[in-house]
Amino acid sequence: MEIRIERTTAPKPKPDQKALGFGKYKSDHMFMMNYTPDMGWHDMRIVPYGPIPLEPDAVALHYAQETFEGLKAYRTPSGDIQLFRPDMNAKRMLNSNRRLCMPEIPEDMFVEACKTIVAVDADWVPSEPGTSLYIRPFMFTSEGQIALHNCSEFIFCIITSPVGAYFAEGINPVKILVEDEYVRAVRGGTGFAKCGGNYATAMIGQEKAERLGYSQVLWLDGVEQKYVEEAGGMNFMYFLNGEAWTAPTEGTVLPGVTRDSIIHILKDWGIPVHEERMTIDDLMKAGHDGSLGEAFACGTAAVISPVGALNYRGDEITINDFKIGETTQKLYDYLTDIQWGRIADPYGWITTLK
Ligand code: COI
Repeated sequence: MEIRIERTTAPKPKPDQKALGFGKYKSDHMFMMNYTPDMGWHDMRIVPYGPIPLEPDAVALHYAQETFEGLKAYRTPSGDIQLFRPDMNAKRMLNSNRRLCMPEIPEDMFVEACKTIVAVDADWVPSEPGTSLYIRPFMFTSEGQIALHNCSEFIFCIITSPVGAYFAEGINPVKILVEDEYVRAVRGGTGFAKCGGNYATAMIGQEKAERLGYSQVLWLDGVEQKYVEEAGGMNFMYFLNGEAWTAPTEGTVLPGVTRDSIIHILKDWGIPVHEERMTIDDLMKAGHDGSLGEAFACGTAAVISPVGALNYRGDEITINDFKIGETTQKLYDYLTDIQWGRIADPYGWITTLK
């Protein structure tokens, strides 16, 4: 595929790599392409990062026809740059787009676009420990139309951002509030899709959690509000009597790339993994009787974030004395060693930039 490259004439100063935070800074360029039914995907280009003009009646702004992805580029000890499982993001975006009646982007086109924008902004891939270049592909309906019908004009764009830890706590445990009023996803809905609408409706739970002093919300199922599903912006996993548990990805839970990678690793280590539903009552009981050994949230942005406390309806349990668990630490070390290229990747998950 041919990508036109228009380089900025005004490169931005690079931020302090020791104080990146998450998502505050944007690199110099962005990838864009357009879709129309007669031309398919066309006009692939890399242009200086900047505003995208939109008609005020663009459907994305009114009816939230929008999907996105999140992956990272890592600087290896030898100075090379590598991506982690970009094919998984491409596949997930296909599924999200199908659910939102948006055109598909072929996997190789998606991966090529990610690699090219990172190569153009290679000097934005940080090298400080724990930092990376977050890649945010997103797609939306650019067509203007107030009536509610499916549209035919779309824009796909990729921006990137040099990032450090997602949580201010870093790898230290976070506190999570279980949401019992609002729900995130229902059967037949968009829970499995990575679309802006899911995060917009989840904002109220996240806002409430933060207002009450918690870093994340934990969502329960949308029908009975009984079963543990996922955290605000990431999946949720825990260990009961040494065995790992996480909610199944059967429609209402996001099929996380980090979640999938961790399941692979745990199984290889001989640790049983239950992708099964568990009620919040049973989880809280396990917290009280000591069988809940460790818990963590996981996602591309957060990597692996230990959970030190869980509050459900005022009942708060402390997990592993509010310390990172042994298996959580081992998983974090192993996964991040692969991602940052400190050890060989036995799974074929790494895509190196040529
Ligand atoms: C990611 O982990 O890549 C996400 O998209 C989650 C978001 C809340 C930052």
